[in-house]
Formats: sequence, C-alpha cells, structure tokens
Amino acid sequence: MSGHVPPAHLHLLTPLYDVLCSAIGLGRGFRRDILRRLGLTGRERLLDAGCGTAALLEVLLEDHPGLDAAGVDPDALALAIASAKLGRKGLRPRLELASMGRMPFEDAGFDVVVSTLALHHVPRDEREGSLKECLRVLKPGGRLVLADLVVSGEGPARWLLKALSFFEGLEAEEGVLDLLRRAGLGEARPVGRYMKLVGFYEGFKP
Ligand SMILES: C[S@@+](CC[C@H](N)C(=O)[O-])C[C@H]1O[C@@H](n2cnc3c(N)ncnc32)[C@H](O)[C@@H]1O
Repeated sequence: MSGHVPPAHLHLLTPLYDVLCSAIGLGRGFRRDILRRLGLTGRERLLDAGCGTAALLEVLLEDHPGLDAAGVDPDALALAIASAKLGRKGLRPRLELASMGRMPFEDAGFDVVVSTLALHHVPRDEREGSLKECLRVLKPGGRLVLADLVVSGEGPARWLLKALSFFEGLEAEEGVLDLLRRAGLGEARPVGRYMKLVGFYEGFKP
C-alpha cells in the first residue's frame, strides 16, 4: 500500500524503528506496561490496529503464546520485519496489509482491539472512520484500548507535545475522547499516561 505515514516517518528508517522506540523510552518497558494494563487471560481474540513492526504483539505473545492475535498495518516493510521477528520466536499471528479504516476482518470477531502510537499516523479526516472500523470488528462488550502521543497535562511535557503536534498531527486529549465518542464509544475515558507523553483511553462496544 502507499500513501500512508510509515512507522518512523521515512521508509528508510523503518528497519531502525524498534531501536528508535527504545531510544526515546517507548521500547519493551512501554510494551510491558500496556501488557499489564490489558490484563489479558490469554484466551482472547485480540487485534493490534496499526501494529507496525509488532513491538507490542511480540511482548503480548511471549507472555500469552495461546493468544489468538492478529495485526494490521498498511506498511509492507514493517509487516515483513514483524513477521521475520516473530517467526524466529515461533510466533505466527495473522498479519494483514491494510489500513485501520478498512480491515479484512469479519464483524464482531475480536474481544480486544488495541492500537498504540498509530492514530496520529492516520490522516485526520480518516480517524473517526478508522475508529468506527475498530468498533465494527469488536464483539459487543469488547474492549478498545488506544494509546497515543496526546497533548495533555502541564509543564514541559505539554509544551514538547504541543511542538510535536505541528509535525506529527497529534490530537489533544479532548480531541481523542471526542473521536472515540463519535465513533460509538459513548463511555470512552482516559485511563492513564506513560512517561507523561502517551495517553491511554478505553471504552467498551455497547
Ligand atoms: C509510530 S508507528 C506505531 C507502530 C506500533 N503500533 C507500535 O506501537 O510500535 C505508526 C504505525 O501506524 C501505521 N499507519 C499509518 N497509517 C495507518 C492507517 N491508516 N491505518 C493503520 N495504521 C497506519 C504505520 O504504518 C505505522 O506502522
């Protein structure tokens, strides 16, 4: 697919994406924090929307090898890296080349949809539709967990995020909640932050 914003903004940086994440403090510790927040039993059907190089799926599947996991991303190179990395560990989730706005999954198939650091890569005018698509593939009562760089809080972190938002298309916290509610998650709420940079949001499909 073409026309999307790649994991580290430039295609030539995609092979370095995992290293760059670790360098800015969003490596394995961040992924393990998400794992803890998800509180999985290991028997769920889980989708990672905008999975990139599978930095999250890797940690989730290491802890829960029985998880029925899938990932979707429009970046072919990121998915090739994901597939090779996971394959070396004997982990083979279903990986699909597609954007969050149009996913090749049946209605109501997943217990959990998680999306990390991906919403701000989706063009603004496609964000609401992409979140609606996440809801479409969730079972009723299923959980959507969104983690993204979001302008919020006070002090230096807020100013850093505000500056970043010019280049990265970041949402403010009210913007994310508004998108989630317009997509159909009336009860969506913020559920914490990581390093003051990443906001976590969650809601359940009615
Ligand atoms: C910063 S990376 C995050 C990757 C991964 N979720 C993580 O936490 O490391 C953003 C990802 O969003 C993907 N992306 C860009 N546009 C997208 C879209 N319309 N739908 C789904 N993913 C998209 C990019 O290809 C990239 O892999």
